[in-house]
Amino acid sequence: MVFELTDMSLVQSEAIVGGNVCESVTGCRVDVIDPATSEIIGSVPAMNGEDAQKAIAAAEAALIPWRAKTASARSERLRTWHKHVLEAKEDLAKLITAECGKPIGESRGEVAYAASFLEWYAEEAKRAYGDVIPPHQEDKRLLVMRQPIGVAAAITPWNFPAAMILRKVAAALAAGCTMVVKPAPQTPLTALALHVLADRSGLPPGVLNTITGSIESSLQIGSAICASPTVRALSFTGSTPAGVSLAQQAATTVKKVSLELGGNASFIVFDDADIENAVQGALAAKFRNSGQTCVCANRFFVQSGVHDAFVEAFAAAVAQLRVGPGSEPDVSVGPLIDDRAHEKVKALVADAVACGANVAVGESSNSTNGRFYPPTVLTSATPEMRLAKEEIFGPVAPIFRFESEEEVLKLANRTEFGLASYFYSQDINRCFRVAEAIECGMVGINTGMLSTVVAPFGGVKSSGIGREGGRYGLDEYQELKYICLGGVR
Ligand code: SIN
Repeated sequence: MVFELTDMSLVQSEAIVGGNVCESVTGCRVDVIDPATSEIIGSVPAMNGEDAQKAIAAAEAALIPWRAKTASARSERLRTWHKHVLEAKEDLAKLITAECGKPIGESRGEVAYAASFLEWYAEEAKRAYGDVIPPHQEDKRLLVMRQPIGVAAAITPWNFPAAMILRKVAAALAAGCTMVVKPAPQTPLTALALHVLADRSGLPPGVLNTITGSIESSLQIGSAICASPTVRALSFTGSTPAGVSLAQQAATTVKKVSLELGGNASFIVFDDADIENAVQGALAAKFRNSGQTCVCANRFFVQSGVHDAFVEAFAAAVAQLRVGPGSEPDVSVGPLIDDRAHEKVKALVADAVACGANVAVGESSNSTNGRFYPPTVLTSATPEMRLAKEEIFGPVAPIFRFESEEEVLKLANRTEFGLASYFYSQDINRCFRVAEAIECGMVGINTGMLSTVVAPFGGVKSSGIGREGGRYGLDEYQELKYICLGGVR
Protein backbone atom coordinates (compact mmCIF):
# COMPACT_ATOMS: atom_id res chain seq x y z
CA MET A 1 0.00 0.00 0.00
CA VAL A 2 1.69 3.24 -1.09
CA PHE A 3 -0.72 5.69 0.50
CA GLU A 4 -1.38 6.40 4.15
CA LEU A 5 -4.88 7.34 5.19
CA THR A 6 -5.98 8.60 8.60
CA ASP A 7 -8.67 5.95 8.51
CA MET A 8 -7.25 2.84 6.84
CA SER A 9 -10.56 0.99 7.31
CA LEU A 10 -11.80 2.97 4.30
CA VAL A 11 -9.55 0.83 2.10
CA GLN A 12 -11.69 -2.16 1.11
CA SER A 13 -10.51 -4.98 -1.08
CA GLU A 14 -13.81 -6.87 -1.34
CA ALA A 15 -17.09 -5.96 -3.01
CA ILE A 16 -20.11 -5.15 -0.82
CA VAL A 17 -23.43 -6.85 -1.59
CA GLY A 18 -26.48 -6.98 0.64
CA GLY A 19 -24.46 -5.49 3.47
CA ASN A 20 -21.77 -8.20 3.29
CA VAL A 21 -18.26 -8.07 1.90
CA CYS A 22 -17.79 -10.69 -0.80
CA GLU A 23 -15.39 -12.23 -3.29
CA SER A 24 -16.25 -13.02 -6.89
CA VAL A 25 -17.77 -16.45 -7.60
CA THR A 26 -14.65 -17.35 -9.57
CA GLY A 27 -12.22 -16.08 -6.92
CA CYS A 28 -10.47 -14.00 -9.65
CA ARG A 29 -9.08 -10.60 -8.71
CA VAL A 30 -7.87 -7.50 -10.55
CA ASP A 31 -5.04 -5.17 -9.53
CA VAL A 32 -5.47 -1.45 -8.98
CA ILE A 33 -2.58 0.57 -10.41
CA ASP A 34 -1.29 4.06 -9.52
CA PRO A 35 -1.07 5.70 -12.97
CA ALA A 36 1.76 8.00 -11.83
CA THR A 37 4.11 5.15 -10.85
CA SER A 38 2.57 2.00 -12.40
CA GLU A 39 2.76 0.46 -8.90
CA ILE A 40 0.07 -1.94 -7.73
CA ILE A 41 -1.78 -0.23 -4.86
CA GLY A 42 -4.49 -2.80 -4.21
CA SER A 43 -6.73 -5.43 -5.72
CA VAL A 44 -10.45 -6.17 -5.83
CA PRO A 45 -12.64 -9.04 -7.02
CA ALA A 46 -12.95 -9.48 -10.80
CA MET A 47 -16.67 -10.19 -10.69
CA ASN A 48 -18.82 -11.45 -13.53
CA GLY A 49 -22.46 -11.76 -14.61
CA GLU A 50 -23.31 -14.25 -11.88
CA ASP A 51 -21.99 -11.86 -9.22
CA ALA A 52 -24.04 -9.09 -10.81
CA GLN A 53 -27.19 -11.20 -10.51
CA LYS A 54 -26.55 -11.67 -6.79
CA ALA A 55 -26.15 -7.93 -6.36
CA ILE A 56 -29.38 -7.32 -8.29
CA ALA A 57 -31.18 -9.82 -6.04
CA ALA A 58 -29.85 -8.01 -2.95
CA ALA A 59 -31.06 -4.67 -4.32
CA GLU A 60 -34.46 -6.21 -5.10
CA ALA A 61 -34.78 -7.60 -1.55
CA ALA A 62 -34.06 -4.16 -0.10
CA LEU A 63 -36.41 -2.27 -2.43
CA ILE A 64 -39.82 -2.61 -0.76
CA PRO A 65 -38.79 -1.38 2.71
CA TRP A 66 -36.63 1.42 1.25
CA ARG A 67 -39.29 2.79 -1.09
CA ALA A 68 -41.85 2.58 1.75
CA LYS A 69 -39.81 4.94 3.93
CA THR A 70 -40.87 8.55 4.09
CA ALA A 71 -38.89 10.95 1.96
CA SER A 72 -37.63 12.56 5.19
CA ALA A 73 -36.28 9.22 6.43
CA ARG A 74 -34.39 8.65 3.16
CA SER A 75 -33.23 12.24 3.24
CA GLU A 76 -31.84 11.76 6.74
CA ARG A 77 -29.65 8.82 5.62
CA LEU A 78 -28.29 10.83 2.68
CA ARG A 79 -27.59 13.80 4.93
CA THR A 80 -25.65 11.61 7.39
CA TRP A 81 -23.70 10.07 4.50
CA HIS A 82 -22.88 13.59 3.29
CA LYS A 83 -21.46 14.43 6.73
CA HIS A 84 -19.30 11.27 6.74
CA VAL A 85 -17.98 11.98 3.23
CA LEU A 86 -16.96 15.50 4.19
CA GLU A 87 -15.29 14.24 7.38
CA ALA A 88 -13.29 11.75 5.29
CA LYS A 89 -12.52 14.36 2.60
CA GLU A 90 -8.73 14.17 2.86
CA ASP A 91 -8.62 10.37 2.84
CA LEU A 92 -10.99 10.16 -0.12
CA ALA A 93 -8.93 12.75 -2.01
CA LYS A 94 -5.78 10.68 -1.43
CA LEU A 95 -7.53 7.58 -2.74
CA ILE A 96 -8.74 9.43 -5.85
CA THR A 97 -5.25 10.72 -6.59
CA ALA A 98 -3.71 7.30 -5.96
CA GLU A 99 -5.92 5.40 -8.38
CA CYS A 100 -6.88 8.04 -10.95
CA GLY A 101 -3.80 10.26 -10.90
CA LYS A 102 -5.45 13.68 -10.67
CA PRO A 103 -3.67 16.45 -8.73
CA ILE A 104 -4.54 16.34 -5.04
CA GLY A 105 -6.14 19.81 -5.08
CA GLU A 106 -8.49 18.65 -7.83
CA SER A 107 -9.24 15.46 -5.87
CA ARG A 108 -10.24 17.54 -2.85
CA GLY A 109 -12.48 19.57 -5.16
CA GLU A 110 -13.98 16.37 -6.51
CA VAL A 111 -14.86 15.11 -3.02
CA ALA A 112 -16.67 18.38 -2.27
CA TYR A 113 -18.44 18.19 -5.66
CA ALA A 114 -19.39 14.53 -5.05
CA ALA A 115 -20.67 15.25 -1.53
CA SER A 116 -22.81 18.11 -2.84
CA PHE A 117 -25.01 15.56 -4.66
CA LEU A 118 -25.81 13.85 -1.35
CA GLU A 119 -26.81 17.16 0.21
CA TRP A 120 -28.80 18.29 -2.82
CA TYR A 121 -30.78 15.05 -3.24
CA ALA A 122 -31.38 14.81 0.51
CA GLU A 123 -33.41 17.99 -0.07
CA GLU A 124 -34.93 17.01 -3.43
CA ALA A 125 -36.22 13.73 -1.95
CA LYS A 126 -38.74 15.82 -0.03
CA ARG A 127 -39.85 17.78 -3.10
CA ALA A 128 -40.81 14.96 -5.46
CA TYR A 129 -44.23 16.51 -5.96
CA GLY A 130 -46.93 15.13 -8.22
CA ASP A 131 -49.80 16.99 -9.91
CA VAL A 132 -53.55 17.41 -9.75
CA ILE A 133 -54.97 17.88 -13.27
CA PRO A 134 -58.22 19.75 -13.96
CA PRO A 135 -60.47 16.87 -15.05
CA HIS A 136 -62.03 16.40 -18.50
CA GLN A 137 -65.37 15.23 -16.97
CA GLU A 138 -67.33 16.59 -13.97
CA ASP A 139 -67.32 13.32 -12.01
CA LYS A 140 -63.60 12.63 -12.42
CA ARG A 141 -60.53 13.61 -10.42
CA LEU A 142 -57.09 13.20 -12.03
CA LEU A 143 -53.83 12.81 -10.15
CA VAL A 144 -50.23 12.22 -11.22
CA MET A 145 -47.81 10.75 -8.71
CA ARG A 146 -44.09 10.12 -8.96
CA GLN A 147 -42.96 6.67 -7.90
CA PRO A 148 -39.49 5.16 -7.64
CA ILE A 149 -38.70 3.20 -10.80
CA GLY A 150 -37.36 0.22 -8.82
CA VAL A 151 -33.92 -1.36 -8.82
CA ALA A 152 -31.44 0.88 -10.66
CA ALA A 153 -27.86 0.30 -11.79
CA ALA A 154 -24.94 2.68 -12.27
CA ILE A 155 -21.85 2.00 -14.35
CA THR A 156 -19.32 4.73 -13.73
CA PRO A 157 -16.02 5.95 -15.23
CA TRP A 158 -12.50 6.35 -13.79
CA ASN A 159 -12.10 10.09 -14.41
CA PHE A 160 -14.34 11.10 -11.47
CA PRO A 161 -14.18 8.08 -9.14
CA ALA A 162 -16.38 9.73 -6.49
CA ALA A 163 -18.52 12.37 -8.20
CA MET A 164 -19.92 10.20 -10.98
CA ILE A 165 -21.05 7.63 -8.39
CA LEU A 166 -22.70 10.04 -5.97
CA ARG A 167 -24.33 12.03 -8.80
CA LYS A 168 -26.24 8.83 -9.69
CA VAL A 169 -26.62 7.10 -6.30
CA ALA A 170 -27.85 10.16 -4.42
CA ALA A 171 -30.63 10.78 -6.96
CA ALA A 172 -31.62 7.10 -7.14
CA LEU A 173 -31.78 6.60 -3.38
CA ALA A 174 -33.60 9.90 -2.85
CA ALA A 175 -36.24 8.77 -5.35
CA GLY A 176 -36.74 5.54 -3.37
CA CYS A 177 -34.80 3.19 -5.65
CA THR A 178 -32.15 0.72 -4.56
CA MET A 179 -28.97 0.41 -6.58
CA VAL A 180 -26.16 -1.74 -7.93
CA VAL A 181 -23.00 0.27 -8.62
CA LYS A 182 -20.18 -0.97 -10.83
CA PRO A 183 -17.23 1.44 -10.72
CA ALA A 184 -14.56 1.53 -13.42
CA PRO A 185 -11.98 -1.28 -13.18
CA GLN A 186 -9.24 1.35 -12.73
CA THR A 187 -10.85 3.12 -9.73
CA PRO A 188 -12.77 0.76 -7.44
CA LEU A 189 -11.12 1.83 -4.16
CA THR A 190 -12.86 5.21 -3.96
CA ALA A 191 -16.20 3.53 -4.72
CA LEU A 192 -15.72 0.99 -1.94
CA ALA A 193 -14.64 3.69 0.51
CA LEU A 194 -17.83 5.63 -0.29
CA HIS A 195 -19.79 2.46 0.40
CA VAL A 196 -18.09 2.00 3.79
CA LEU A 197 -19.16 5.55 4.65
CA ALA A 198 -22.71 4.80 3.47
CA ASP A 199 -22.84 1.80 5.82
CA ARG A 200 -21.66 4.00 8.68
CA SER A 201 -24.53 6.35 7.87
CA GLY A 202 -27.10 3.67 8.62
CA LEU A 203 -28.06 2.88 5.03
CA PRO A 204 -29.97 -0.44 5.25
CA PRO A 205 -28.17 -3.47 3.73
CA GLY A 206 -28.86 -4.01 0.03
CA VAL A 207 -30.00 -0.45 -0.67
CA LEU A 208 -26.55 0.09 -2.16
CA ASN A 209 -24.47 -2.75 -3.61
CA THR A 210 -21.00 -2.15 -5.01
CA ILE A 211 -19.50 -4.77 -7.31
CA THR A 212 -16.11 -4.61 -8.98
CA GLY A 213 -14.72 -6.04 -12.20
CA SER A 214 -11.73 -6.24 -14.50
CA ILE A 215 -11.95 -4.65 -17.94
CA GLU A 216 -13.00 -8.03 -19.41
CA SER A 217 -15.35 -9.16 -16.64
CA SER A 218 -17.01 -5.73 -16.53
CA LEU A 219 -18.48 -6.49 -19.95
CA GLN A 220 -20.22 -9.54 -18.46
CA ILE A 221 -21.49 -7.44 -15.56
CA GLY A 222 -22.87 -4.86 -17.99
CA SER A 223 -24.61 -7.57 -20.02
CA ALA A 224 -26.13 -9.19 -16.92
CA ILE A 225 -27.46 -5.83 -15.72
CA CYS A 226 -28.96 -5.08 -19.15
CA ALA A 227 -30.53 -8.55 -19.44
CA SER A 228 -32.12 -8.42 -15.99
CA PRO A 229 -35.83 -7.54 -16.00
CA THR A 230 -35.46 -6.61 -12.32
CA VAL A 231 -33.24 -3.64 -13.14
CA ARG A 232 -35.59 -0.90 -14.34
CA ALA A 233 -33.09 1.93 -14.88
CA LEU A 234 -29.48 2.05 -16.01
CA SER A 235 -27.29 5.13 -15.75
CA PHE A 236 -23.96 5.00 -17.54
CA THR A 237 -21.14 7.51 -17.89
CA GLY A 238 -18.36 6.61 -20.29
CA SER A 239 -17.47 6.33 -23.95
CA THR A 240 -20.04 6.59 -26.75
CA PRO A 241 -19.35 3.08 -28.18
CA ALA A 242 -19.78 1.50 -24.71
CA GLY A 243 -22.96 3.52 -24.12
CA VAL A 244 -24.44 2.51 -27.47
CA SER A 245 -23.72 -1.16 -26.73
CA LEU A 246 -25.35 -0.93 -23.27
CA ALA A 247 -28.39 0.90 -24.68
CA GLN A 248 -28.83 -1.79 -27.35
CA GLN A 249 -28.64 -4.54 -24.73
CA ALA A 250 -30.92 -2.68 -22.30
CA ALA A 251 -33.56 -2.33 -25.02
CA THR A 252 -34.36 -6.05 -24.68
CA THR A 253 -35.75 -5.43 -21.18
CA VAL A 254 -37.11 -1.94 -22.03
CA LYS A 255 -35.18 -0.13 -19.32
CA LYS A 256 -35.02 3.57 -18.73
CA VAL A 257 -31.48 4.43 -19.81
CA SER A 258 -29.53 7.59 -19.12
CA LEU A 259 -26.23 8.01 -20.86
CA GLU A 260 -23.52 10.61 -20.35
CA LEU A 261 -21.11 9.87 -23.18
CA GLY A 262 -18.23 11.35 -25.12
CA GLY A 263 -17.82 15.02 -26.00
CA ASN A 264 -15.97 17.20 -28.49
CA ALA A 265 -16.44 20.59 -26.86
CA SER A 266 -15.77 23.73 -28.85
CA PHE A 267 -14.20 26.74 -27.12
CA ILE A 268 -14.79 29.85 -29.23
CA VAL A 269 -13.01 33.16 -28.71
CA PHE A 270 -14.67 36.00 -30.64
CA ASP A 271 -12.94 39.28 -31.57
CA ASP A 272 -15.02 41.04 -28.90
CA ALA A 273 -13.87 38.72 -26.07
CA ASP A 274 -11.95 39.74 -22.98
CA ILE A 275 -8.73 37.89 -23.85
CA GLU A 276 -7.35 37.67 -20.32
CA ASN A 277 -10.55 36.02 -19.11
CA ALA A 278 -10.64 33.76 -22.16
CA VAL A 279 -7.13 32.50 -21.39
CA GLN A 280 -8.09 31.70 -17.79
CA GLY A 281 -11.25 29.97 -18.99
CA ALA A 282 -9.30 28.00 -21.58
CA LEU A 283 -6.90 26.72 -18.92
CA ALA A 284 -9.82 25.57 -16.75
CA ALA A 285 -11.77 24.03 -19.63
CA LYS A 286 -8.78 22.19 -21.08
CA PHE A 287 -6.48 21.03 -18.30
CA ARG A 288 -8.85 19.84 -15.56
CA ASN A 289 -7.90 16.24 -14.78
CA SER A 290 -5.12 16.50 -17.42
CA GLY A 291 -7.74 16.97 -20.12
CA GLN A 292 -9.56 13.79 -19.15
CA THR A 293 -13.12 15.01 -18.67
CA CYS A 294 -16.01 14.66 -21.10
CA VAL A 295 -16.57 18.42 -20.91
CA CYS A 296 -12.95 19.38 -21.59
CA ALA A 297 -12.53 21.81 -24.49
CA ASN A 298 -11.41 19.72 -27.47
CA ARG A 299 -11.33 22.35 -30.25
CA PHE A 300 -10.35 26.01 -29.76
CA PHE A 301 -11.74 28.34 -32.43
CA VAL A 302 -10.19 31.82 -32.30
CA GLN A 303 -11.32 34.72 -34.50
CA SER A 304 -8.66 36.31 -36.72
CA GLY A 305 -8.63 39.71 -35.01
CA VAL A 306 -7.53 38.23 -31.63
CA HIS A 307 -5.92 35.00 -32.82
CA ASP A 308 -2.27 35.95 -32.35
CA ALA A 309 -2.84 37.74 -29.04
CA PHE A 310 -4.80 34.78 -27.63
CA VAL A 311 -2.25 32.19 -28.83
CA GLU A 312 0.63 34.15 -27.32
CA ALA A 313 -1.04 34.60 -23.92
CA PHE A 314 -2.46 31.06 -23.80
CA ALA A 315 0.82 29.39 -24.79
CA ALA A 316 2.68 31.45 -22.16
CA ALA A 317 0.20 30.37 -19.46
CA VAL A 318 0.32 26.70 -20.56
CA ALA A 319 4.12 26.72 -20.44
CA GLN A 320 3.84 27.52 -16.70
CA LEU A 321 1.75 24.43 -15.84
CA ARG A 322 3.66 21.98 -13.67
CA VAL A 323 3.45 18.32 -14.68
CA GLY A 324 4.04 15.52 -12.16
CA PRO A 325 2.51 12.98 -9.79
CA GLY A 326 -0.81 14.26 -8.48
CA SER A 327 0.31 13.71 -4.88
CA GLU A 328 2.99 16.41 -5.17
CA PRO A 329 2.04 19.98 -4.25
CA ASP A 330 1.75 22.58 -7.05
CA VAL A 331 1.29 19.96 -9.76
CA SER A 332 -1.51 21.00 -12.08
CA VAL A 333 -1.23 18.26 -14.71
CA GLY A 334 -0.96 14.63 -13.58
CA PRO A 335 -0.46 11.42 -15.56
CA LEU A 336 -2.91 10.01 -18.09
CA ILE A 337 -4.86 7.03 -16.81
CA ASP A 338 -2.94 4.32 -18.68
CA ASP A 339 -0.48 3.58 -21.50
CA ARG A 340 -3.28 3.27 -24.04
CA ALA A 341 -4.48 6.79 -23.26
CA HIS A 342 -0.92 8.09 -23.60
CA GLU A 343 -0.46 6.33 -26.94
CA LYS A 344 -3.72 7.79 -28.23
CA VAL A 345 -2.79 11.37 -27.36
CA LYS A 346 0.63 10.91 -28.95
CA ALA A 347 -0.93 9.53 -32.12
CA LEU A 348 -3.44 12.40 -32.37
CA VAL A 349 -0.68 15.01 -32.02
CA ALA A 350 1.53 13.19 -34.54
CA ASP A 351 -1.37 13.13 -37.02
CA ALA A 352 -2.04 16.85 -36.52
CA VAL A 353 1.63 17.77 -36.98
CA ALA A 354 1.86 15.60 -40.10
CA CYS A 355 -1.21 17.43 -41.44
CA GLY A 356 0.35 20.88 -40.89
CA ALA A 357 -0.25 21.87 -37.25
CA ASN A 358 2.50 23.85 -35.49
CA VAL A 359 3.51 23.28 -31.88
CA ALA A 360 3.30 26.59 -29.97
CA VAL A 361 4.23 24.90 -26.70
CA GLY A 362 4.54 21.29 -25.59
CA GLU A 363 5.26 18.04 -27.30
CA SER A 364 5.64 17.12 -30.95
CA SER A 365 8.11 14.25 -30.77
CA ASN A 366 7.62 10.59 -29.93
CA SER A 367 9.42 10.87 -26.61
CA THR A 368 8.12 8.71 -23.78
CA ASN A 369 7.81 9.88 -20.22
CA GLY A 370 5.70 7.24 -18.54
CA ARG A 371 2.07 8.25 -18.70
CA PHE A 372 2.81 11.98 -18.41
CA TYR A 373 2.04 14.05 -21.48
CA PRO A 374 3.22 17.68 -21.52
CA PRO A 375 0.53 20.36 -21.86
CA THR A 376 0.57 21.18 -25.56
CA VAL A 377 -0.86 23.97 -27.71
CA LEU A 378 -1.10 23.43 -31.48
CA THR A 379 -1.88 26.15 -34.00
CA SER A 380 -3.06 25.95 -37.64
CA ALA A 381 -5.41 23.09 -36.77
CA THR A 382 -7.90 22.09 -39.47
CA PRO A 383 -11.20 20.12 -39.43
CA GLU A 384 -9.57 17.27 -41.37
CA MET A 385 -7.21 16.39 -38.50
CA ARG A 386 -8.18 13.45 -36.30
CA LEU A 387 -8.23 15.58 -33.16
CA ALA A 388 -10.97 17.72 -34.66
CA LYS A 389 -13.23 14.68 -34.81
CA GLU A 390 -12.11 12.54 -31.87
CA GLU A 391 -12.14 13.23 -28.16
CA ILE A 392 -8.48 13.91 -27.25
CA PHE A 393 -8.86 13.13 -23.51
CA GLY A 394 -5.43 14.59 -22.84
CA PRO A 395 -3.70 17.95 -22.23
CA VAL A 396 -3.58 19.07 -25.87
CA ALA A 397 -5.26 22.23 -27.17
CA PRO A 398 -5.58 22.57 -30.96
CA ILE A 399 -6.34 26.10 -32.19
CA PHE A 400 -8.37 26.73 -35.35
CA ARG A 401 -8.53 30.25 -36.87
CA PHE A 402 -11.92 31.53 -38.11
CA GLU A 403 -13.29 34.70 -39.70
CA SER A 404 -17.05 34.95 -39.07
CA GLU A 405 -19.74 33.89 -36.58
CA GLU A 406 -21.57 32.01 -39.30
CA GLU A 407 -18.43 30.08 -40.22
CA VAL A 408 -17.58 29.14 -36.62
CA LEU A 409 -21.09 27.92 -35.84
CA LYS A 410 -20.85 25.52 -38.78
CA LEU A 411 -17.42 24.36 -37.61
CA ALA A 412 -18.47 23.98 -33.96
CA ASN A 413 -21.55 21.93 -34.90
CA ARG A 414 -19.63 19.76 -37.36
CA THR A 415 -19.38 16.83 -34.93
CA GLU A 416 -21.49 13.85 -33.91
CA PHE A 417 -21.08 14.96 -30.27
CA GLY A 418 -23.01 17.60 -28.31
CA LEU A 419 -22.11 17.65 -24.62
CA ALA A 420 -20.58 21.03 -23.68
CA SER A 421 -19.47 24.17 -25.54
CA TYR A 422 -17.83 27.37 -24.36
CA PHE A 423 -17.51 30.79 -25.91
CA TYR A 424 -16.20 34.23 -25.01
CA SER A 425 -17.91 37.40 -26.22
CA GLN A 426 -18.94 40.69 -24.67
CA ASP A 427 -21.80 41.27 -27.09
CA ILE A 428 -25.06 40.30 -25.34
CA ASN A 429 -26.89 39.76 -28.63
CA ARG A 430 -24.19 37.40 -29.83
CA CYS A 431 -24.28 35.59 -26.48
CA PHE A 432 -27.91 34.60 -26.98
CA ARG A 433 -27.57 33.98 -30.74
CA VAL A 434 -24.61 31.63 -30.36
CA ALA A 435 -25.88 29.88 -27.20
CA GLU A 436 -29.13 29.07 -29.02
CA ALA A 437 -27.42 27.90 -32.23
CA ILE A 438 -24.84 25.62 -30.69
CA GLU A 439 -25.87 21.96 -30.70
CA CYS A 440 -25.06 20.75 -27.19
CA GLY A 441 -26.57 20.16 -23.77
CA MET A 442 -24.49 22.72 -21.84
CA VAL A 443 -23.02 26.10 -22.78
CA GLY A 444 -20.47 28.11 -20.83
CA ILE A 445 -20.45 31.80 -21.81
CA ASN A 446 -17.41 33.71 -20.56
CA THR A 447 -16.52 30.81 -18.25
CA GLY A 448 -14.58 27.59 -18.63
CA MET A 449 -16.27 25.79 -15.75
CA LEU A 450 -19.95 24.93 -15.82
CA SER A 451 -20.39 21.80 -13.67
CA THR A 452 -22.47 22.26 -10.54
CA VAL A 453 -24.89 20.17 -8.53
CA VAL A 454 -27.71 22.67 -9.06
CA ALA A 455 -27.83 22.46 -12.88
CA PRO A 456 -28.72 19.67 -15.34
CA PHE A 457 -25.64 17.91 -16.74
CA GLY A 458 -25.97 16.01 -20.01
CA GLY A 459 -25.68 16.07 -23.76
CA VAL A 460 -27.42 15.77 -27.11
CA LYS A 461 -26.60 13.81 -30.28
CA SER A 462 -24.02 11.04 -29.61
CA SER A 463 -23.16 12.61 -26.24
CA GLY A 464 -26.09 10.97 -24.55
CA ILE A 465 -29.62 11.12 -23.23
CA GLY A 466 -31.03 12.13 -19.85
CA ARG A 467 -29.81 14.66 -17.31
CA GLU A 468 -28.04 14.38 -13.98
CA GLY A 469 -27.98 16.96 -11.22
CA GLY A 470 -30.37 19.75 -10.37
CA ARG A 471 -34.06 19.09 -9.93
CA TYR A 472 -34.10 17.19 -13.23
CA GLY A 473 -31.80 14.41 -11.95
CA LEU A 474 -34.58 12.71 -9.97
CA ASP A 475 -36.64 12.14 -13.14
CA GLU A 476 -34.22 9.41 -14.29
CA TYR A 477 -35.24 7.27 -11.30
CA GLN A 478 -38.97 7.94 -11.21
CA GLU A 479 -42.05 6.76 -13.09
CA LEU A 480 -45.13 8.90 -13.49
CA LYS A 481 -48.35 7.20 -12.44
CA TYR A 482 -51.66 8.70 -13.58
CA ILE A 483 -54.70 8.00 -11.37
CA CYS A 484 -58.22 8.60 -12.62
CA LEU A 485 -60.91 8.61 -9.92
CA GLY A 486 -64.42 8.32 -11.37
CA GLY A 487 -67.97 8.70 -10.05
CA VAL A 488 -67.23 11.69 -7.83
CA ARG A 489 -70.46 13.52 -6.80
C1 SIN B 1 -17.34 14.05 -16.93
O1 SIN B 1 -16.27 14.27 -17.41
O2 SIN B 1 -18.03 13.13 -17.36
C2 SIN B 1 -17.94 14.82 -15.79
C3 SIN B 1 -17.34 16.13 -15.61
C4 SIN B 1 -18.09 17.01 -14.64
O3 SIN B 1 -19.03 16.59 -13.95
O4 SIN B 1 -17.74 18.17 -14.61
